[in-house]
Formats: sequence, structure tokens, C-alpha cells
Amino acid sequence: SHRPLVAYRPIGPSDLGILQQLHADLFPIRYEPEFFHNVVNRRDIISWGAVDRSRPNSQRDDLIGFVTIKMVPARESEITDLVRCDPTRSDQTLVYILTLGVVEAYRKFGIASALIREVIRYAKTIPTCRAAYLHVISYNTPAIYLYKRMSFACVRRLYGFYIIEGQHYDAYLFVYYVNGG
Ligand code: ACO
Repeated sequence: SHRPLVAYRPIGPSDLGILQQLHADLFPIRYEPEFFHNVVNRRDIISWGAVDRSRPNSQRDDLIGFVTIKMVPARESEITDLVRCDPTRSDQTLVYILTLGVVEAYRKFGIASALIREVIRYAKTIPTCRAAYLHVISYNTPAIYLYKRMSFACVRRLYGFYIIEGQHYDAYLFVYYVNGG
């Protein structure tokens, strides 16, 4: 197999179908149509996409990876106690990483790592931002390995956080502090 020529670009309306398909393929939980519309129309959700420019013309702009995030007020988040929050300031924010995924054939090329680096770079440019955080299901070893390798701290285990087909699964909460958070 050849080495892909990966480029990173914003996600837009033309990505709707593929983005929906990739989420259905890669995650055990279902996302509402509204979520996808908010991503592609950039309503409250910020995202980055990866594409392979070495593919044939008809596919060279198709998403092969993505990360989606939203900003949340630090005071309303579940990790208020873990962030150095100034109680006199109501403007402090956090980046919450909603979804991260890479198409199977494109894994282990560092694409997810590059997408996470984009998120961290973005978080650092927002002076009010104190951290980026996310949840990951406890059996997802590749993702847990990735976040640890990217220097995220595993700060909590949340018992029964996910319910999938009637089964409870634990989640880990990972945090990456920025701007003195
Ligand atoms: N050659 C060989 N290995 C490499 C190379 C390379 N050129 N580049 C990176 N790697 C290795 C990394 O060192 C790392 O090593 P490991 O195998 O010891 O873990 C591994 O590849 C993974 O790093 P990346 O390549 O950056 O990650 P990848 O692009 O493969 O994506 C991901 C990882 C996102 C977890 C992928 O497996 C996936 O999409 N899984 C399904 C969806 C998912 O679980 N998403 C995360 C859920 S949590 C959330 O969404 C908030």
C-alpha cells in the first residue's frame, strides 16, 4: 500500500454525507442529524477534516479523518474542580472534544495525532481557554493509548457513563491543560 498525501482542511456542507457515514461506522453511539448539520454549518461546533490528496480525483476531497469540538464555559463543565478557575472571572472556557476518528485503512499514519495537535494549537490561541477534555469508553485501547501519548492526563473513571444496547460501560475522562489551566 502507498503512503497517503494527507492534507487538513475545514469541514463544510459538502462533507455531510461522508461525515454521517463515518460516525455510523466508527462509533458505538448514534448521533442526531442536528449534530451533523451543526458540524458542517459550523454552528457551535468547530472541526477539522483530513483528506488524501494522492487518491483519484473523485475521492481526493473525501474525508478520511475528522475531529469535532465545542467550547464550554469552564464554570458549567464537569471538570470545574480540576481546572485552575478564577471565580471572579466568568469568561473562562474549555474545549470539549466530541468526536475523533480515522478511516481504518488510514490508521497508524499519525492522522489522529495531527488532528489532536490542531485542537491543542487552537485551544492555546484562545486566551480564556484553560484546557481541552474528552470522554473515552474504557475498552477503547487505541484511543486511550493515543491520548496518553499526546500527554493528556487521565483524571477520572466514570462508572456506567455510556449505555449501549442496554449495557453500561465506564468512561475515562482525559484532560490537556493550556494557558496555565
Ligand atoms: N507507522 C506506524 N505507526 C504509526 C505511524 C506510522 N507512520 N504513525 C503513527 N503511528 C502509531 C502511533 O505511534 C500510535 O502507536 P500505537 O500503535 O502504539 O498506538 C498509533 O499509530 C496511533 O496513532 P495515530 O496514527 O495518530 O492514530 P490513528 O490515526 O491511527 O487514529 C484512532 C487513532 C482515532 C483512535 C482510530 O483508531 C479510530 O478512528 N478509532 C475508531 C474511532 C475512535 O475510537 N475514536 C476515538 C474515540 S474517543 C473520542 O472520540 C473523544
